[in-house]
Amino acid sequence: QAFFKPIHGAALPSSSNGQTKISVIGAGNVGMAIAQTILTQDLADELVLVDAIPDKLRGEMLDLQHAAAFLPRTKINASVDYAVTAGSDLCIVTAGARQIHGESRLNLLQRNVALFRKIIPPLAKYSPETILLIVSNPVDVLTYVAWKLSGFPSNRVVGSGTNLDSSRFRFLIADHLDVNAQDVQAYIVGEHGDSSVALWSSISVGGVPVLSFLKKQQIAYEKETLESIHKAVVDSAYEVISLKGYTSWAIGYSAAGLARSILRDQRSIHPVSVLAKGFYGVDGGDVFLSLPAQLGRSGVLGVTNVHLTDEEEQKLRDSAKTILEVQSQLGL
Ligand code: NAI
Ligand code: 2OP
Repeated sequence: QAFFKPIHGAALPSSSNGQTKISVIGAGNVGMAIAQTILTQDLADELVLVDAIPDKLRGEMLDLQHAAAFLPRTKINASVDYAVTAGSDLCIVTAGARQIHGESRLNLLQRNVALFRKIIPPLAKYSPETILLIVSNPVDVLTYVAWKLSGFPSNRVVGSGTNLDSSRFRFLIADHLDVNAQDVQAYIVGEHGDSSVALWSSISVGGVPVLSFLKKQQIAYEKETLESIHKAVVDSAYEVISLKGYTSWAIGYSAAGLARSILRDQRSIHPVSVLAKGFYGVDGGDVFLSLPAQLGRSGVLGVTNVHLTDEEEQKLRDSAKTILEVQSQLGL
């Protein structure tokens, strides 16, 4: 017997109609930070966790379920069996090895490609219409791997890329100028990691282009100062990892923001890892790297035509080359 008696004539909604389902693969530091941000931001009707360690997975699921009275209603499920992910609108992949102190992201490649061979095919099988959001590192190469293993069109495979690096960049510029980071428009593009590229020429604060403003005011700025800010962005993750062992909160917000833009069809622009061949002179093979891309319900809607200086374009092509060199060892 139902707890509530339906009002005469009212149709009972079917459980799957219009419901948003997100699956998070990997219930480690990153997966759980993303899961908890998704819950607090009310982005899903159903949230599924998958991990390879059953006890830890059940513990994480129960711990989140016990917050039910403090959160908007979301059904939370977890299993080591990928059948639980069936019908997901979005699958966020965070499973895999992470860097130890001083280790580069690219060093994780072989271990995480082996895991992706186990993870991506069942995700694609159970949710053939899903969008894949890849977070595991090295994120650009693994986004390429996920694209290949899933057989999905490239608009439905996206890497969290430099959305996080760009937030670090905006934070550092905002801190430097003592303004709100949300008023700073600034992009890091290219590889999420050591060969990333800062687009200094397009930075604006509150609509004011920063470099031309400084020039007009005849305020000298040192190339070294700009480079030191970019270096601080590149060093950010290494610093956090050396201090607390891993990074989690910022990527939690970054990935949840991408989930919002996709699932709520926000059509907002994010620097994320997309199939970049043909953009900004990037050639030489299928390579995923971050460009400012518009995200909506069908995934990647397009790439923004930001003006890059010749130097920035060259750095972007160099970054693509770095990723392609690593990719060429995969034989995919
Ligand atoms: P973690 O070690 O805390 O969690 C990894 C989880 O993956 C573990 O719970 C493990 O049991 C699970 N796992 C392993 N094999 C699996 C399989 N076959 N199926 C399902 N789950 C499996 O690591 P953490 O800190 O969560 O990092 C995860 C990944 O995210 C790393 O590759 C890290 O480098 C990356 N990362 C990426 C960021 C980005 O901006 N793209 C930011 C921060 C981390
Ligand atoms: C980060 O940038 C480690 O890729 C990870 O936080």
